[in-house]
Amino acid sequence: MKSNWWKQAVVYQIYPRSFQDSNGDGVGDLQGIIQRLDYLEKLGIDVIWLSPVYQSPNDDNGYDISNYYEIQPEFGTMEDMEQLINEAKKRKIKIVMDLVVNHTSDEHPWFIEAKKGKENPYHDYYVWRDPVEGDVPNDLTSVFSGSAWTFDPQLEQYYLHLFSKKQPDLNWENEKMRQDIYEMMNFWLDKGVGGFRMDVIELIGKVPDEKVTANGPRLHEYLQEMNKHTFGQHDVMTVGETNSVTPEEAKLFSSEDRNELSMVFQFEHMVLDQQIGKSKWDLKPLNLTDLKKVLSIWQSALKDEGWNSLFWNNHDQPRIVSRWGNEQEYRVKSAKMFAILLHLMQGTPYIYQGEEIGMTNIKVNDLSQLDDIESINMYHERLEAGYSKEEIFRSINTKGRDNARTLMQWDTSEQAGFTSGQPWLEVNENYDAINAAQALEDTHSIFYCYQQLIQMRKNNPLIVHGDYQLLLEDHPTIFAYTRSYQGETWLVVANFSEETTDIALSDHPTSLVPLISNSEKENYDLQDLKLSPYETFAVQLERPLLSGDVK
Ligand code: NOJ
Repeated sequence: MKSNWWKQAVVYQIYPRSFQDSNGDGVGDLQGIIQRLDYLEKLGIDVIWLSPVYQSPNDDNGYDISNYYEIQPEFGTMEDMEQLINEAKKRKIKIVMDLVVNHTSDEHPWFIEAKKGKENPYHDYYVWRDPVEGDVPNDLTSVFSGSAWTFDPQLEQYYLHLFSKKQPDLNWENEKMRQDIYEMMNFWLDKGVGGFRMDVIELIGKVPDEKVTANGPRLHEYLQEMNKHTFGQHDVMTVGETNSVTPEEAKLFSSEDRNELSMVFQFEHMVLDQQIGKSKWDLKPLNLTDLKKVLSIWQSALKDEGWNSLFWNNHDQPRIVSRWGNEQEYRVKSAKMFAILLHLMQGTPYIYQGEEIGMTNIKVNDLSQLDDIESINMYHERLEAGYSKEEIFRSINTKGRDNARTLMQWDTSEQAGFTSGQPWLEVNENYDAINAAQALEDTHSIFYCYQQLIQMRKNNPLIVHGDYQLLLEDHPTIFAYTRSYQGETWLVVANFSEETTDIALSDHPTSLVPLISNSEKENYDLQDLKLSPYETFAVQLERPLLSGDVK
């Protein structure tokens, strides 16, 4: 019997390279994660989403897998992995594996075989096309710059890679390939993992000849087949990374009666600081009313059908306090604002490592400081196109993925307590002030705000099931909403700005004790609210709000 336990759960994402190194080689590893499980237990999370730890040549830091059945040696061994699953289990934490099956590494034995000849049984495991008039089959581009087609001179054919050249796309139309993937998934389920996070899963139904990549015609057929052959028989969670789905499409992935996935992980709110129709590097300021609108549409659309993830950060996104908050004077306050606003919504919240201590972006100004293939490729492409280095680094420092991948800041010792050796990526120099040891000492830290929110979710079905209603939808700086469940109503109000802001909720109690807040105030007068920069609170109301209540 399935319990849908993941509706109450909070997920913590670990990017293993950057979390904790246990052997001094400068790269995070599985034993390092085991050492930090007590910290995660204290935070209160239920699930760890582990970014890929499989064998990989690391062209895209593990999202290019050369063997799904082996652990990357720099991360440890299969015994370490089993130990991690067991040690986590003792603390009631489940391990969700990253499942990267849109593509493999070009060093995966399947691709090596595939290149041997058109008659080779593995050839059709990938997407090959003959040249068209001596050139690429069409103008599909790679997410990491340039054409999505690379020519193999021996076969005289192009293969498709929607990401780097070293990440050839699998051909999901090949049934034998699909069966091999399901077998591999069952291997991990038998090890006792708590589910899968499915990398760019919306792409597996692609029809490259028609330039259809996301949401292709057979996508849902494949997911239903996968469910049936693998996790459908287990009480696990599955989350599909879906970059470009609408709420209606999200229901197709996550409605219970469709037997596909538990939930989607969609990005509509994450592209609001990007110029429409342009790339992630072409920035525009965030408009709060857009953010309120998008988050609210998702809250309402998936209320009774389907399930959504809640997140501000992951390993591909810049740090939220630097992005839409304030990384200086109001760092702690704005980090708590983001936490409270999101964790009191409906959906499964995801915390990305370091978010719980308010880690920030890093500033770089030289190519040698970059690791991320996406940023490096963009740097070369834009330099050639005539952009100045200043412009390029402005984009990278604002949106580049290395911002999320700097070392976890544990304490004030050298390299922030991440490694005793030379780390693979430079540490953010602010680790003296921002680190987990300091956060654990301070009862008012961001860490304890997250801990409290996680506990509140466990103790209050209203957070999991309550109806959501946005208030003040056109207000330029206040984000306010209510949640209501079985006669109980909570009000959440955030001042999403650096200015003090006054608002009034007429005819409402003058002295309400907050359920949670990021200020020192002991009570809130709803008829006369003077909110300091980033001030955020939640209170329980004595009666539901009427639309005319808010001034
Ligand atoms: C999405 C992952 O989150 C990202 O890190 C990766 O580069 C691409 N998929 C390709 O696997």
